Formats: sequence, structure tokens, C-alpha cells
Amino acid sequence: MNTNRLSKKIEEILNFQVTKEAEAAQIYLSYGCWADSEGYGGIANFLFRHCQEERDHMMKVMQYIMERGGTVQIKAIKAPPANPKNLQECFEKTFKHEVDNTNAIYDIVNLAHEEKDWATYNFAQWFVKEQIEEEKLVMELLDKLKIAGGPNASNESLLTLDTQLGKEPDSAPLARDASMENPE
Ligand SMILES: [Fe+2]
Ligand SMILES: [Fe+2]
Repeated sequence: MNTNRLSKKIEEILNFQVTKEAEAAQIYLSYGCWADSEGYGGIANFLFRHCQEERDHMMKVMQYIMERGGTVQIKAIKAPPANPKNLQECFEKTFKHEVDNTNAIYDIVNLAHEEKDWATYNFAQWFVKEQIEEEKLVMELLDKLKIAGGPNASNESLLTLDTQLGKEPDSAPLARDASMENPE
């Protein structure tokens, strides 16, 4: 008896998302290493915490596939992109990665809607809400950098920003603590 409650296409797109979240984690990991090598220990810490959050997203999708009787496929992940040139580029690239991930979530929502797979549709809504938070988080990073002087930021203001971000444990809450109603 076949107990797989996911269609082939849904199973495929969810497995694609597992890989995508793993890739997102690697990007945060590599940007964190870059930030640390540039002397931004606080920002590195912030990016490392967020790496963990992306891993939690990956686990969440994996668990859903398994719960629905599907088969998880762990695939090779792409190497992270080249290091950013400066903090502005680091945050801008991070924002682009988040928007790209949001679009991948929307693809899941669209397919689930098309197939009338309401369980997957409902599951994906958590991610829709989560991505609003994720995009907001990076927008705030860009705002903070802008206030610090953007490309002309002084070392002193960058040091303040770095210290501040290193101390912000609540700005990157762990996905495992979140619920559908409260993705934060
Ligand atoms: Fe994610
Ligand atoms: Fe993210």
C-alpha cells in the first residue's frame, strides 16, 4: 500500500527546498567567516546564529516530507558565492539571497494551490510568514549600516554596529522555537 501523501512534483519541490535551505546556511556560514576575518566579530556571530536558523528550516522541510510518507533526498549543495567586498555588499547580497528564497517558497505555495494539496499549502504558510521576518531582519541590517554612514562609515561607528549586532540574540530567533502563529 502506498502511504506517500505527496505527489511526485510536490515531493520534488520540497526536496529542492531542503537543498536550498542547506545552501542558505552555507552562505551565512561563509559570510560569517569573511566578517570574522575582517575583524567584525559581532557581525560574524550574528551570521553564524542565522546559519543555524537556516539549518533548522532545512530540518523542518525534511521532517514534513517524512511525516507525509515521502522520501527525503539529500543532495550536493553549491559552494557559497565569492566573499563580499565590504559590509554593504555583504548585507545587500544577503538580502538578495533571502528574496530568492522567498520566491522559492512562493513556488511551493503556487504548486500546492494548483494541486489542491492543502496540507502542503498550510505547511508552506509558516515559511511565507518566516520569510517576512527574514527579509525584515536584513533590511534592518542595511538601515543600521546606512545610519552608521554606509560606504563612508567611520571605523568607530562600524565598531559600535559590530558590538551591537554581536549582542542581539533575539534578532535571529531559532526556528525550532517558532510556531505557525509566531514565526519569530
Ligand atoms: Fe530559510
Ligand atoms: Fe533565511
